[in-house]
Amino acid sequence: MSIAVENKKWDAKLYDDKHSFVFKYGEDLVHLLDPKLGEEILDVGCGTGYLTNLIAEAGAHATGIDNSQEMIHKAKKEYPSINFEVLSATDFHFEKKFDAIFSNAALHWVLEKEKTIDCMYENLKTNGRLVLEMGGKGNVESIVSAIRNTLIKFGAKEKANINIWYFPSLSEYTLLLEAKGFRVKYASHYDRETELKDTANGIKDWIKMFGGSFLKNMDENIVEKLLTEIQDSLRATNFRDGKWYADYKRLRVVAIKQH
Ligand code: BEZ
Repeated sequence: MSIAVENKKWDAKLYDDKHSFVFKYGEDLVHLLDPKLGEEILDVGCGTGYLTNLIAEAGAHATGIDNSQEMIHKAKKEYPSINFEVLSATDFHFEKKFDAIFSNAALHWVLEKEKTIDCMYENLKTNGRLVLEMGGKGNVESIVSAIRNTLIKFGAKEKANINIWYFPSLSEYTLLLEAKGFRVKYASHYDRETELKDTANGIKDWIKMFGGSFLKNMDENIVEKLLTEIQDSLRATNFRDGKWYADYKRLRVVAIKQH
């Protein structure tokens, strides 16, 4: 869940405490994966290992990789019997091949998506399955627009133009998978409005956790003003009945390695 851009440092505790919805929603994806007894399954971008553990509890031999040392440290502590490794989603290789590769809410952090697709293909057995969910086209669009508009207003045009996430359309991503040799069995691009845990400062909190790259090297006081203005600008659209919401749009895919 935390494939880092520019080696982003993750606060694994804040992630588990306030953003556990990321992996809670992923439980449903584990059902779609349908892990079987004894299967070798790799979780790419496993974060603190919650879903990797669910896969292991189903009887599979689970391995989790993430390029955040902080996340892997916490995962190992929490689930000592599972094999976790600090590895990048764009560069991993195992001696064994996997029956399935799973990834939840991680691959939108990887701008070099072709490299990841290559790695996932190479590390699967023939007829092995890839089951993934990531942000799709239009994901958190309202939040990203508010960040960009407010940065421009504050005179930080360069920061407003950075791209830290890859949110592909269904056709774009499935074409990439097919070009590599996957057979796409199932694909869906769906809306999943997501309630944020902090009722007072849900948007500020979300940006601090996930959008830190937009705020890099900025004065703390300016950051606070900026976040307040971003959050206020979203009140009419993203706040209802005392709760903040993020406009998540998910891309879910099941694909099979053919040869
Ligand atoms: C997502 O899960 O869609 C997501 C999480 C953090 C940043 C951007 C997207």
